[in-house]
Amino acid sequence: HAIYLEDYQPPAWRVERTALRFELEEEQALVRAQLSISINPEAGSRQALELLGDDEIELQRLSIDGEVLCASDYARADGRLVIPNVPDSFTLECVTRLLPQQNTALEGLYKSDGMFCTQCEAEGFRRITFFPDRPDVMSVFTTTLVADKTRYPVLLSNGNPVASGDADGGRHWVTWEDPWPKPSYLFALVAGDLALVEDHYTTASGREVALRIYAERKDLDKLDHAMVSLKNAMRWDEQVYGREYDLDIYMIVAVDFFNMGAMENKGLNIFNTSCVLAHPQTTTDAAFQRVEAVVAHEYFHNWSGNRVTCRDWFQLSLKEGFTVFRDAEFSADMNSRTVKRIEDVTLLRTAQFAEDAGPMAHPVRPESYIEISNFYTLTVYEKGAEVVRMLHTLLGPELFRKGSDLYFERHDGQAVTTDDFVRAMEDVSGRDLSQFRRWYSQAGTPRLNVSDQYDAETGCYELHVSQSCPPSPGQEHKLPYHLPLAMGLLADDGTELCSRVLELTEEEQVFRFEGIPSRPVPSLLRGFSAPVKLDYAYTDQQLLMLLRHDTDGFNRWDAGQRLSVRLLQQQTEAWCRGEPMQCEQALVDAWRGLLRDENLDPAMVAQLLRLPSEAQLSELADEIDVIAIHEAREFMRTALARALESEWLAVYQRCDAASGTYSPDAASIGLRSLKNLALEYLIATGREPWLELARQQFEQSDNMTDQQAALSLVVHSGFREVGAELLEAFYLQWQHESLVMNQWLAIQASDSAPGALERVVSLSRHPMFDMRNPNKLRALIGGFCGQNLVQFHAEDGSGYTWLADWILKLDRQNPQVAARLLTPLTRWKRYEPVRRALMRDQLQRMMDTAELSADVYEVVSKSLV
Ligand code: ARG
Ligand code: ZN
Repeated sequence: HAIYLEDYQPPAWRVERTALRFELEEEQALVRAQLSISINPEAGSRQALELLGDDEIELQRLSIDGEVLCASDYARADGRLVIPNVPDSFTLECVTRLLPQQNTALEGLYKSDGMFCTQCEAEGFRRITFFPDRPDVMSVFTTTLVADKTRYPVLLSNGNPVASGDADGGRHWVTWEDPWPKPSYLFALVAGDLALVEDHYTTASGREVALRIYAERKDLDKLDHAMVSLKNAMRWDEQVYGREYDLDIYMIVAVDFFNMGAMENKGLNIFNTSCVLAHPQTTTDAAFQRVEAVVAHEYFHNWSGNRVTCRDWFQLSLKEGFTVFRDAEFSADMNSRTVKRIEDVTLLRTAQFAEDAGPMAHPVRPESYIEISNFYTLTVYEKGAEVVRMLHTLLGPELFRKGSDLYFERHDGQAVTTDDFVRAMEDVSGRDLSQFRRWYSQAGTPRLNVSDQYDAETGCYELHVSQSCPPSPGQEHKLPYHLPLAMGLLADDGTELCSRVLELTEEEQVFRFEGIPSRPVPSLLRGFSAPVKLDYAYTDQQLLMLLRHDTDGFNRWDAGQRLSVRLLQQQTEAWCRGEPMQCEQALVDAWRGLLRDENLDPAMVAQLLRLPSEAQLSELADEIDVIAIHEAREFMRTALARALESEWLAVYQRCDAASGTYSPDAASIGLRSLKNLALEYLIATGREPWLELARQQFEQSDNMTDQQAALSLVVHSGFREVGAELLEAFYLQWQHESLVMNQWLAIQASDSAPGALERVVSLSRHPMFDMRNPNKLRALIGGFCGQNLVQFHAEDGSGYTWLADWILKLDRQNPQVAARLLTPLTRWKRYEPVRRALMRDQLQRMMDTAELSADVYEVVSKSLV
């Protein structure tokens, strides 16, 4: 039952107004919906009224203009309710009964701990009531919530509160009105006993906005960072995009049970606690930055997503790609631009490239899907953001801003397509972007092959660039892409001779540079100007020169990465041949230079001295040999640790002395990241004194970043007893903090020492684990299958069986999360024959199981093709 983009039809009916009334009780919820429906003049032909509604919900009453319908007036099947005979314009009233307490899928209306909340994107609203639950049907919503006053003193929905009062039996009610028409996926409600922090913001044009962040009372001390981030985001969107907020209240609610990161419901964002709570003692630097980014992301959706929304779910990247680009630029402005870029590109190269090379590969604008939840992917989000970034690069910042202004002005209040977005960019720039649109329709990671030629006589230098893109499911042949190739030429001593943005449009192109005094070293794809793989036959010497001198910070880092990847691949091969591995002296010398240079930005040094991850090396391998990759990387890490031991110690001490009391600003974060990287290498020497240093840091630090770094380094080291001791101490200290306990689970799940499977099995029975909570599942199952590659890929296949067992169990409870946790198995074709067969067996076993959800079915069946 796949759905195809080419089958899109405009909605036959419109819903101008939607009035909802929720009676929230301990056993059930009753929902009365009144919809003002009329025929859509833009639809082709008149059709029966068709509403979407999950088969699970109980329909108690249905009436049209006050006349109750009987069973023969409508048909209900396969998630649809069809009413053949309706007037052109009418009010439909519908009462449904739901069981939110039993909703373990966490879509629609459900309970998270003691509170009611909703998640409607993409298709959760149809689990609440019958509705044309599609993004191009926009309606003005009024919502009344009625609930017990003591248990649920706080009753929230979208928009502004307009009335409230007491009801019988100790109950009370509140009515909310959202003046902005919106699709049903942006509907939200929350009812609970919540505490809040409150602040306010004055928009550029003078609107006073109340800002409220709600959480359970125990977390009230963890909301300040989110509030500061929200205000920064509001100011930034005014300054950089000219976008202002448009309601009197902006609310964020933190919930513990949540399938994803957060949701941009109009005026009432609902957040996974992991993306909003932050406190120095319980939250790492990485999590502080994630809170800042996600708060901004959801806020930016108010324009890129809510005021202008998607016509259909194939257009998901219209809002997600653009919004990720916006939040990345925001984070770059708030912190270190280069470090942010390095982090984002690392994620893209590791996980999105792997997705693009796997069985679920799809274009940024997919052509078909079985279950849309499976398409909230790195491709739609991250690659989608790269596509927007390329438009920004091709047009330049001023024209891009003009294009964005035109897009918002032209489409305010509409549900549109990625094509409309590109058209706005075309219209302001006068450029033809038809070839550029292939980025939306073709899947796969393009490859650039670059070679060069230099003529010393004439001073002429040529770059020969060819592009290609491997086949992906359903797309055998790809047409060439239009892309910006930012580059520079450097002399041997590092002087920059020129810097340019080349535009690629052909399969093969030559670019000529005149007046070049000597053979230059090209610095290619600066800032990662396009989401491609680039091949150029750099010598080690050239990479070392770029690592030292490139004026583009990103490419300095990338030169170092290329060199490390190359050396690691050589050791992997040596290990496979049973030959001794070795660590290149030139690399050691280069690293020593970086470690001793006190003028460098610590955050950058930390990035430069991090070896590519096992996941990244796997993505780059022709055929993945998990053990060889692990052994080679461990060998190099240990060699670099020992060869530079005194430098690591000096850097540790220098950073430690420079860190004052905790602050999550970019400079302090940089110091901590370099300090903890130095500690990692010190521990990797295997020498006792550094174990004591780590223990001290664990016991004495005033912040979670340092404490957790020390914990995970010791747990993942050969010092097993001390590791166990620290885990126990950490548990006793933080057992009341659910988010910290997720880290405690994840650190153990990713411990690659023998006996790992027994450890995760026993953790899955630990009281700190709760299989109904997605964060716990991600920590334990995700931690083992995604971070503990050696053990997940144990040669006997035990890791695969364990994961498949979990997927089958979880699929009955929460299909969205089950389908997501399944990802590692979908990559089976990339492994050597033994593991390939074992992984495939587990996929087949799942396929043979009756009654898979659409979510898991889609992933499993596409993986087996
Ligand atoms: N729109 C949300 C965000 O990116 C994500 C919601 C995803 N929900 C889902 N069921 N897949 O901010
Ligand atoms: Zn989003």
